[in-house]
Amino acid sequence: MLKHERLAAWLEEIRSICKPDSIVLCDGSETEYNNMMELLLESGAASKLNETKRPNSYLIRSDPADVARVESRTFICTDSKEDAGPNNNWEDPAKMKDTLSRLFDGCMQGRVMYVIPFSMGPVGSPIAHIGIEITDSPYVVASMHIMTRVGKKVLDELGTKGDFVPCVHSVGVPLEKNQKDVTWPCNPENLYVAHFPKTREIWSFGSGYGGNALLGKKCFALRIASTMAKDEGWLAEHMLILKLTNPEGISRYIAGAFPSACGKTNLAMLIPTIPGWKVETVGDDICWMKFSNNGQLYAINPEAGFFGVAPGTGMGSNPNAMRSLEANCIFTNVAETDDGDVWWEGKSEPPSHLIDWKGNDWTPASNEPAAHPNARFTVSASQCPAIAKEWEDLAGVPISAILFGGRRATVVPLVNEARDWAQGTFFGSIVSSEKTAAADGKIGELRRDPMAMLPFCGYNMADYWAHWISLGAQKENSLPKIYYVNWFRKNAKGDFLWPGFGENSRVLKWIFDRCEGKAEAVETPIVNLPDTKSIDMEGLEPKNIDLEKLLKIEVDGWLEEIPLIREYYRNYGDKVPKELERELTLLSEKLEKAKKVA
Ligand code: GTP
Ligand code: SPV
Ligand code: MN
Repeated sequence: MLKHERLAAWLEEIRSICKPDSIVLCDGSETEYNNMMELLLESGAASKLNETKRPNSYLIRSDPADVARVESRTFICTDSKEDAGPNNNWEDPAKMKDTLSRLFDGCMQGRVMYVIPFSMGPVGSPIAHIGIEITDSPYVVASMHIMTRVGKKVLDELGTKGDFVPCVHSVGVPLEKNQKDVTWPCNPENLYVAHFPKTREIWSFGSGYGGNALLGKKCFALRIASTMAKDEGWLAEHMLILKLTNPEGISRYIAGAFPSACGKTNLAMLIPTIPGWKVETVGDDICWMKFSNNGQLYAINPEAGFFGVAPGTGMGSNPNAMRSLEANCIFTNVAETDDGDVWWEGKSEPPSHLIDWKGNDWTPASNEPAAHPNARFTVSASQCPAIAKEWEDLAGVPISAILFGGRRATVVPLVNEARDWAQGTFFGSIVSSEKTAAADGKIGELRRDPMAMLPFCGYNMADYWAHWISLGAQKENSLPKIYYVNWFRKNAKGDFLWPGFGENSRVLKWIFDRCEGKAEAVETPIVNLPDTKSIDMEGLEPKNIDLEKLLKIEVDGWLEEIPLIREYYRNYGDKVPKELERELTLLSEKLEKAKKVA
């Protein structure tokens, strides 16, 4: 049995609290995956898709009350409230443990307790870390198989003394003897996603969906890992990683942080529209980065699969994602076609009849979308035709540039370049974006989402900025260039000014050439911009794209932002690094000057 004493003791403790009917130690095998799917088919949560159209694939319908991350019920439990910061919901650790011990007491009665040993990152990578998730959800087990590396090789790596992050998850619906289960058990009234950074523990109760329940992802790889990264001098980020190769065959790796449902998966799998250039995928959501001994920043994708937004994904926008989804997938909350395949908004022209994500009849005349706006696909990264050959390299890939961006209809230009790391950190800290369906809350509302980490930074955001600044200040580190991009600028009618998707390669090309020291930038009083001639517009349709407007610094718009940023920083009091305060003052002075000149 288990030779790891701490692990064995912890499992026994959780068993005695949760009181499951039985325990299964997961081995990550195909048989185990198929068994989970059998259970989900029996319970009615899953239906098998048409085997000829979509081999070995399943559609899952969740409870309509459990469809996205619930930020309002996500907690960071640190001794002092200040350590969690205004960016997090805080709770006293002892008080939270008390609440949780009541909720978890007997919560797995009538269910199986699955124990999932998983690695975030290729097993054996010096940047990787191990977690153990305990769950009573077969959907979570199957999803973890795809999203992480599961099984014996992880236990072998753990040995008898290895470190792991304990992750406890329950859907929070115990069953009486002979009580029939519902198709998607969940307990939204008692939902808690609780993190204990000091003891590096995660406890999640009441939801079976996505980031609330697949604890390796946001809970471990971002919230807990960001704390570990601060303590140990590395970075755990909400970033895609892509490999970009120019026509001469030179490759560079770029990481990019965009908020949830703002284009990471799409950029990571992009097919360039400019001849001779190639993008390959290393990761689409999370990036762990460490400086090597010679000061180069190396990144790994800690995940093994994609949990991607389905709506908006089609052969036009993201053919590589579509090709990844041809078989062996789980689709959650998409619509079902009459011939047993899947459909979602943006996949193709709507069929004349569908069963929608709630299981109801749907026609194009229906008022509601057929797929939930946060419907997702779960698929192994190895199925992506654009996956980079080095995506599982133990050492990671060297990062040349970091992008920050969000959804901004106004003000923020298509791309600009930070003068240095400090200004880049400043750009990251002021990113704001319109809210999407990836989390609870009002869609479209503008909010600051610094470094796309607002929902994911496991400690005080101002301390996180200070961590970024301090890494940049270490003389031995050679630092990536930092860019602020915005694919989402709109005209007065509400249409996007920039075609986006594959056309974003034009911006990547400029960034690549800047890294090579080949492309020109215009030093405006405020930031470095490409001049309109240095973005390759060859062959871009339609011809009337207003690059000048896309690249314009809107002095008045920025001036209106200054007091908002100041007010925003004030939330963090005197913890805001002085380097960022200095950048803000500098920006404000330069804007005032530019306004006088104009
Ligand atoms: P998470 O998995 O939630 O972290 O999201 P993500 O950042 O990976 O988002 P994703 O790439 O899945 O994009 C979500 C939505 O943004 C989809 O509906 C896309 O169609 C849309 N989108 C992505 N890239 C672009 C772009 O360049 N332009 C425009 N207009 N929309 C885009
Ligand atoms: C996000 O919301 O940023 C996601 C999806 O990537 S989830 O895993 O549900 O958090
Ligand atoms: Mn994400």
